[in-house]
Amino acid sequence: MTTIGFGIVGLGRIGWLHAEHIAGAVPGARLVAAAVDEAQRRELEASGRAPCPLVADVADLVARPDVEAVIVASPSSLHHDHIIEVARAGKPVFAEKPIADSVEAARAVVAAVERSGVPFQIGFQRRYDPGYVRARELIAAGAIGEVEMFRGITCDRIPPVDFLRTSGGLFWDLAIHDFDATRFLTGDEIEAVHATGAIKVEPRLAEFDDIDHGIVTLRFQSGALGVVQACWRAPAGYDIRAEVHGSRGKVVAEVDEKFPARLYDERGLVAARHDQFTERFREAYRDELQGFVAALRRGSAPTPNLTDALRAVEIADAATRSRRQGGWVTVGQ
Ligand SMILES: NC(=O)c1ccc[n+]([C@@H]2O[C@H](COP(=O)([O-])OP(=O)(O)OC[C@H]3O[C@@H](n4cnc5c(N)ncnc54)[C@H](O)[C@@H]3O)[C@@H](O)[C@H]2O)c1
Repeated sequence: MTTIGFGIVGLGRIGWLHAEHIAGAVPGARLVAAAVDEAQRRELEASGRAPCPLVADVADLVARPDVEAVIVASPSSLHHDHIIEVARAGKPVFAEKPIADSVEAARAVVAAVERSGVPFQIGFQRRYDPGYVRARELIAAGAIGEVEMFRGITCDRIPPVDFLRTSGGLFWDLAIHDFDATRFLTGDEIEAVHATGAIKVEPRLAEFDDIDHGIVTLRFQSGALGVVQACWRAPAGYDIRAEVHGSRGKVVAEVDEKFPARLYDERGLVAARHDQFTERFREAYRDELQGFVAALRRGSAPTPNLTDALRAVEIADAATRSRRQGGWVTVGQ
């Protein structure tokens, strides 16, 4: 079988990494062309640094017969339009999170992709991380008994404020990975959330009613409880953890140390930590694309899917509304 030709929309922090993986690390795929914004196109063409031919826009990308599947890694506020445009052209879509910037728009994306019948995968890379995969297997096998409590922590360095302006906010952009992890690890659904937040890093977030520190209390359908803690502050490096407590034990997914070797000296234990998400989840970002390509070649349904994409934004939306209006908010209403 020949390789699958990929187009990519967006060559920013994450799109560039996806392009590198498709071009050199994912067997069965090849990088064909990319669409970026006007300013970046001029810069890449002038510098000769473009990783593949650049086209003017998404319409030009999907019009190419050698583009057989598309990765959408443009800013979140454009995902709705870009995903629908690719799906309508009949090409499989791998989309970065979140699927859209409102629940209503996300439901429209789901309807459009389902109507088109194209394969779809959402970029929740933690589902391809060996630590999260092992944790899920253990929990599903009953190793910790009945799940009673979830705890997820995500702390990252703050991106530029202009990125955050169109990101949808802390819960849509960052904690959304933890919301998906709750469903992936426990197999349970979140019924209701109660959230609070604060600004401690970037005062300009107040201009668009965003926060850089947030806590979301979760109530699961099973009656289990949980908490997600997210912040745009990570002085000691990228900090990601998930703990699932059960009636007979707990599972902790935590692989934040950069090297599988530790220095012990007069300071005690000195361990280097991952700096960026592109380091911590590098292999998972490659493996999620490999999973997408494998599903396309087998003709099976890629995972995580449209339902996973939609549930995560419903939780992010409920958390955002709870933080703004106070009180518990039921997810999906
Ligand atoms: N899964 C993850 O862990 C993860 C990590 C980072 C970002 N993301 C998501 O990926 C998306 C991109 O984030 P980023 O940090 O790479 O952003 P970025 O700002 O670094 O890059 C955005 C890219 O989109 C391009 N772009 C802008 N407008 C466009 C248009 N109209 N048509 C085509 N291309 C256009 C820009 O040229 C740029 O290459 C966001 O939705 C973000 O939430 C996911």
